[in-house]
Amino acid sequence: MTIVCGLPGNEAMAQQLATILEAQLGHIESRRFPDGESYVRFEEDVDRKHVVLVCTLAHPDSQILRLLFAADAARDLGARMITLVAPYLAYMRQDRRFRSGEAISSRSFARVLSGSFDRIVTVSPHLHRYKALSDLYPVEALALDAAPLLAAWLASHVARPLLVGPDSESEQWVGRVARLAGAPYVVGRKLRSGDRDVSVELPGLDAFAGRHAIIVDDVISSGATVAATAGRLRAAGFARIGCLAVHGLQSGRDTATLLEKVDALVTTDSVANDHGAIGLAPLIAEAVAQSAAASLVV
Ligand code: R5P
Repeated sequence: MTIVCGLPGNEAMAQQLATILEAQLGHIESRRFPDGESYVRFEEDVDRKHVVLVCTLAHPDSQILRLLFAADAARDLGARMITLVAPYLAYMRQDRRFRSGEAISSRSFARVLSGSFDRIVTVSPHLHRYKALSDLYPVEALALDAAPLLAAWLASHVARPLLVGPDSESEQWVGRVARLAGAPYVVGRKLRSGDRDVSVELPGLDAFAGRHAIIVDDVISSGATVAATAGRLRAAGFARIGCLAVHGLQSGRDTATLLEKVDALVTTDSVANDHGAIGLAPLIAEAVAQSAAASLVV
């Protein structure tokens, strides 16, 4: 039997997954003690069950201990298998030592999660220098692909798009969405001088005049990359500029700034935000069901 439990802030996704999987919906009581420590308690019995913990990992530092405590409690309480559903998987961008002395936090984070979960399911993780999650996750880790969902959204909402990737790193995402949607795309060159200090060059736009420019990226964090790309497109004469991204991590304030630069912003619901129009629950539920069936945990 499967029980799906959402960590705080993940209740809606947990509810959707439980419904699609026809699984039990569990509840986790959680609070902070006055000194900031975390309290976690399963409200339902998890003994001999496949426990699916749902916790998207935007802003991971404030969530990780609570999540690990829940996983360890489930194990103590007799769970047969513990799956983490993290629609957004954090720390993937720190995938090498960019400056001497830096922590390669993607590896440390992978070790921490792998110590507590039997299986991890995520969507479009930032695989750039790592080619697969198995390069850093020793446990089974499934990377689901959101590109077909983005392409389907594009096909039904935008006529004559030009997809725009801000930099070579984005080519894998923008190229795949473009192929699936049958749309042309260009890729720019990005120079990042600080967390919010980004410039983008976009060569070869003349051939696409009059199209609806759609910036495509995997992650929006501060929004600086999308803002700089939109600025270039506007300067090149594009009248309609949208942004389509898998993971929208940006704050409300950064969203407001972004909406001064783009006419529309659409993401998946991997992280709760007002623009998460593309639902991931069916994709995730199918993967959880298949991988549970493969390991005979139902
Ligand atoms: C880069 O590694 C990612 O693909 C995104 O382009 C980046 O995370 C966006 O960050 P920000 O929104 O802060 O510019």
